[in-house]
Amino acid sequence: MARTDPHSHADDAQPTVTSFHWKAQVDFTRHVLECHVALQLSRPGEGPLDLDTRDLQLHAVEDASGQPLQRELGPPDKVLGQRLRVQLPAGTTGVVVRYATSPSASALQWLEPGQTHGKQHPFLFSQCQALHARSVVPLQDSPAVRVTYTAELEVPAALRAVMAARADGREEHGGHATERFTMPQPIPPYLLALAVGELSARELGPRTRAWAEPGVVEKAAWEFADVDRMLTEAEALFGPYDWERFDLLTLPPSFPYGGMENPRLTFLTPTLLAGDRSLVNVVAHELAHSWTGNLVTNATAEHFWLNEGWTVWAERRILERLSGREASELHAALGRRSLEQAVAHFREQPALTRLRTHLSGVDPDEAFSQVPYEKGYLLLRALEQHVGRPRFEAFARAYMARFRFGALTTEDFCAFCEAELPGALAAVKAEDYLDAPGIPVHAPRAHSERLSALLGLGTRPPSAEQAGTWGPTEWQLYLELLPRPLPEAALAALEPLLPARLSHNPEVRVSWVALCLASSHGAALAEGEALVSRVGRMKYLKPLYAALLGNERYVHTARAWFERFKGGYHPIAQQVVEGMLKKAAV
Ligand code: BES
Ligand code: ZN
Repeated sequence: MARTDPHSHADDAQPTVTSFHWKAQVDFTRHVLECHVALQLSRPGEGPLDLDTRDLQLHAVEDASGQPLQRELGPPDKVLGQRLRVQLPAGTTGVVVRYATSPSASALQWLEPGQTHGKQHPFLFSQCQALHARSVVPLQDSPAVRVTYTAELEVPAALRAVMAARADGREEHGGHATERFTMPQPIPPYLLALAVGELSARELGPRTRAWAEPGVVEKAAWEFADVDRMLTEAEALFGPYDWERFDLLTLPPSFPYGGMENPRLTFLTPTLLAGDRSLVNVVAHELAHSWTGNLVTNATAEHFWLNEGWTVWAERRILERLSGREASELHAALGRRSLEQAVAHFREQPALTRLRTHLSGVDPDEAFSQVPYEKGYLLLRALEQHVGRPRFEAFARAYMARFRFGALTTEDFCAFCEAELPGALAAVKAEDYLDAPGIPVHAPRAHSERLSALLGLGTRPPSAEQAGTWGPTEWQLYLELLPRPLPEAALAALEPLLPARLSHNPEVRVSWVALCLASSHGAALAEGEALVSRVGRMKYLKPLYAALLGNERYVHTARAWFERFKGGYHPIAQQVVEGMLKKAAV
């Protein structure tokens, strides 16, 4: 008997749940899902079956014929949730659980009509990565345990339900509708996903469709119009797409991430709707996860770099094909900068800057950083540079073929790499990435002409002519590289150079406002406040609050804004910002 994932009670001596049938009534008044789930086991079991749960209210636990089963709910643990141990009589092949989710289920955000674009109807969405699927369904919530499922969601008839699954139809009865779904491909539980709200769709291509609230859907369809081409380019790189559809759901602004690779239906922040298609690298990233992450999955959160490092590498390969090498190199340089910032941020916890991490007792959401993304990318790029692109591409395909619909650890990766590319790990000094903190001095660097021109400026402002040629990524990179606090005169010289056409680009705005706040440029306070009041994307909340907290004049402003706006933030974002405030002792 052994637990193999520090973040799950799953025990590899027990049968695994291979599929489940889930029924949930979505209750917008009580903010709960009233649920019935029938779990199918990999083999007839006898003795204990340990499942992960968090804040579930259990009504009944039975076998497939309705006989009650003995059960025991363990003590709640902040990271793990609660173990549900069910005693299986010999020969048991299925377990039925009737339960309700908690109004504060960590995977779910229930939005009031006022938090939506249309302001007429409530909205619900899930975010199960990393450890939140267990707050929705009692499962072995480890990425190494794959499941297929069918689902029936009962929702108010005025609303639509979508899932990261195949839609099997809708039936209306009285004031309610039942929507059915099937997920035929086995997924790690963190990819379970649903949303309910006033939703409409626009076709983008034979395999792609944009979903969003009616008032947002046209804008989304325009922004993501090229997604079908993106899918074709990705297939040219990584082989056939295994998930049939690649639909995109644009969520209300409190969605805490840029994107989430829920299979068949990627979830996206509305901040991508910049009106200039400049942020579609996030779509490329989530699409790339269809291979690296969803098909080939990290066995536990300790090997998260295998999901994200590979995906950043794949994202930049897609971007290079769509927009050229200059564009992908600029993104690599921006990534490098964010890695430097992450390493500085973790200077007191250097262990979190290794790729191979030890996270027993640590919440993966709290260990989250750009390190697995960008340091993972650098390791793969170093391997690619060492063996040459054609060989590395063949290696990537062999890797995807070998581990498809499976999970692996860093050790599995190294063994496979050694077999396919003998000597390459040693040649790039892979251990400096995997087990040493910080950025290896020999790590590869991005190169491009535009990048050299930009870096050549140092802290000097660009000429008006040069500034006019910069796209949003160049502006963002330039701003991120500036020292802070920046003298008032330098800020004043820069401000008129920022072109108006970039005013809708939230990446540039956030970089600019964070720089201003760190530099006590009081005129930026109003925009900072507007940003943290409207947007719940953590990538923006973190630098804005960090800029306030790093400036003694604004530490109390940070607490005041948080208290005013936290009600609109997702539970995960609330937890993260609260953690920042506590650390700063305000
Ligand atoms: N899977 C992640 C988001 C995530 C990670 C959610 C860990 C919960 C826990 C997603 O693919 C992601 O990386 N999103 C990035 C996109 C960026 C790297 C292009 C984001 O949200 O910023
Ligand atoms: Zn990702």
